[in-house]
Amino acid sequence: MDIKEIYETMDYGTAPESADEANAWLDKNNRIFGHYIDGEFVSGTDHFETINPATGKSLAHVSQASSADVDSAVAAASRVFNEWSTRSGFERAKVLYALARNIQKHARLFSVLETLDNGKPIRESRDIDIPLVHRHFYYHAGMAQLMSKELPNREPIGVCGQIIPWNFPMLMLAWKIAPALAMGNTVVLKPAETTSLTALLFAEICAQSGVPRGVVNIVTGDGDVGHMIVRHKDLHKIAFTGSTDVGRKIRQATAGSGKSLTLELGGKSPFIVFDDADLDSAVEGVVDAIWFNQGQVCCAGSRLLVQAGVADKLHSKLVNRMKKLRIGDPLDKSIDMGAINSQAQLDRIKSMLSSCDPSKITSAETTMPDGGYYHPPTLIRDVETSDTLMQEEIFGPVLVSTTFRIPSEAVSLANNTRYGLAASVWSENINLALGMAPKLKAGVVWINGTNFFDAAAGFGGTKESGFGREGGWDGLMAYTRSKKIHKKVETSLADATHTGRDISINRTYKNYVGGKQSRPDGGYTKQISDPSNATTYDIPISNRKDLRNAVEAANKASGWSSSTGHLRSQILYYFAENLSARADEFAALIDTFQPRGMSGADEVQATLETIFECAAWSDKFDGDVRNVPIRGLALSLNEAVGTIAAFAPADHALLGLVRMIAATIAVGNRVIVFPSEINPVIAGELIQVIETSDIPAGAVNILFADHSDVAKHTAMHMDIDAVWCAETAAISSIIEEHSATNLKRTWTQVNLATEIREFLDQAIEKKTVWIPWGEG
Ligand code: NAI
Repeated sequence: MDIKEIYETMDYGTAPESADEANAWLDKNNRIFGHYIDGEFVSGTDHFETINPATGKSLAHVSQASSADVDSAVAAASRVFNEWSTRSGFERAKVLYALARNIQKHARLFSVLETLDNGKPIRESRDIDIPLVHRHFYYHAGMAQLMSKELPNREPIGVCGQIIPWNFPMLMLAWKIAPALAMGNTVVLKPAETTSLTALLFAEICAQSGVPRGVVNIVTGDGDVGHMIVRHKDLHKIAFTGSTDVGRKIRQATAGSGKSLTLELGGKSPFIVFDDADLDSAVEGVVDAIWFNQGQVCCAGSRLLVQAGVADKLHSKLVNRMKKLRIGDPLDKSIDMGAINSQAQLDRIKSMLSSCDPSKITSAETTMPDGGYYHPPTLIRDVETSDTLMQEEIFGPVLVSTTFRIPSEAVSLANNTRYGLAASVWSENINLALGMAPKLKAGVVWINGTNFFDAAAGFGGTKESGFGREGGWDGLMAYTRSKKIHKKVETSLADATHTGRDISINRTYKNYVGGKQSRPDGGYTKQISDPSNATTYDIPISNRKDLRNAVEAANKASGWSSSTGHLRSQILYYFAENLSARADEFAALIDTFQPRGMSGADEVQATLETIFECAAWSDKFDGDVRNVPIRGLALSLNEAVGTIAAFAPADHALLGLVRMIAATIAVGNRVIVFPSEINPVIAGELIQVIETSDIPAGAVNILFADHSDVAKHTAMHMDIDAVWCAETAAISSIIEEHSATNLKRTWTQVNLATEIREFLDQAIEKKTVWIPWGEG
């Protein structure tokens, strides 16, 4: 073949990677595996096949763990927890460093085994997945070292159950295990049933790297084993990556259990191309966005939104590029796309496409290997925004495309999804591109790039893409908790009675919604009196209509979220000034209604200090820049969550209420607070202070309500972005269970002793914005 022919055909032959070492490892284990529990491999029962998706043939047999297996894994992790968590950071760092080194040493074996079991191209497992895995362990060795000095108020959560998917088996393992171990936790991890092998190889590496017995346990099996882990009473945390449907089930199953939870779920991420974009670069971006890992990527740029003027040009370039993509044996270093992970996943992709008008579908007519599970790169044009293919995760090499005319339309199309994981923006106008970043509802935004990942950069979603971040300092929050012991505050309440005799004065309170005092919709109130029956108080009883009005008012006040930190801090200081002017009155009220515990004067003082602390942070809670290995940088931004509903505690009625208000609004949220049911008087008085403090209408809303009645509706409300609860465990449980409908963030059993810093962390959504630079 001459050079001209080579250029024309681009046929550069095959370059297969050897599978000998991986096969030798499988043979050494007789191609049959059990579990890794308490530092030992235990033989399993009830084995099932794990298939090589490139051929459809069996690779090995792995075991379906029994509940006894899960119990012994959890018991082993619990036994060693104290020893591991009290080791110095340096001691833990050495173990993580050894893991990083040993994975690096065996990188080729890991890559080949991953490709055999998963079907992804060896170029990806060798150049992306496994390098990111050891980078993750190195990075977190550093975090273990720094923990005591940099996070002095944090401690490990305990024994963590971790459940991971099949699309990045080793990478997801690293994302889960590295931060958990660095912070002193112990783990029981379950890989996905179709891709368990690299996790079992990792178990061998643990044994060689000085990981103490029981610190890492690996049990294999399907969703039933996952369910056993989720329900296990001795686990303190569940970390899950996978489908939104399973995430929802896990949210329900853990509701009220007190287990900490992070969910990294599905996505339908927009890939936005403006008419001034470098279209050739954008085409390469699309290749990385949707054909990387055969599109089986939670943050895949699976929705192409292209500005109308360049749509035809971009589509035609894309179709040409698609034709050139080579699909083949994943172990061949010269192919672009490998196999879909399983027959079931291939069937799922095909069945989703079967509903589509065939005239809209363009599939590359590429030669496909015989046997195995392959799907060609596919583009579907002119898809309606409401179409299932535009809304649902296909999780395959299928790109759907539609057009927009102006940037604001691109924003609304991009955000028109129940997901909020990632977004990619392409434009040569950096002002336009960067200006899009804050408007997109997504945890990660890539500017003129896509699918960048790094251990230093937080990754995770909003809305039904889940909650919690992995990577960077943000990811450590998910594996630590505040050191302050969450002991129950001793009750200091007086007995307020429901009807009074010898009444001299009556006070009537109203709700506070949209900057105005308003009567409850149903017209119902309840009456309470102070302990001496000197005064009675009429307290509104709000219903769902009041809640809807408050949400509407809060959402209308979206300008508060885009106001400057400087403005917010000025308003908070003014709020403190106005409260301070009535300090004696509030102190007296507190002494009347909370005669035991902290004195009224002290509580007012602590409240003023809280407002000052929040005001101080307003213009300083600003995120940072992450040192990621690209030419460019990653910004880690703190964005307001949106509208937060908060159930205030019964005790410390002033301090509790104000902590929730001040911390949420300091960083730009709008808040709907439900004051304590048994101690509502202080809230009634506080409304007057809020009214005079220049807080814009709708930024703070106060509803008096029966908490057990509104908790469910609040958790299920589609326009409330997060719910906080400093109420009883029963109310917290209702909130967690019902939040599963839309997977909103919850922060329950909040203790007032928690540092303001943590309140602020709970009040923001981290957004990572990747900004590569340079032209070459
Ligand atoms: P899946 O969500 O069922 O599986 C992920 C992990 O969860 C596996 O380890 C599985 O064994 C475990 N699991 C399943 N049911 C469970 C339960 N009830 N309790 C605890 N653990 C459970 O995902 P699946 O079925 O493998 O794929 C289905 C669809 O999910 C895909 O077509 C894709 O759309 C989506 N998916 C999304 C992922 C993402 O990262 N966003 C990853 C994997 C799948």
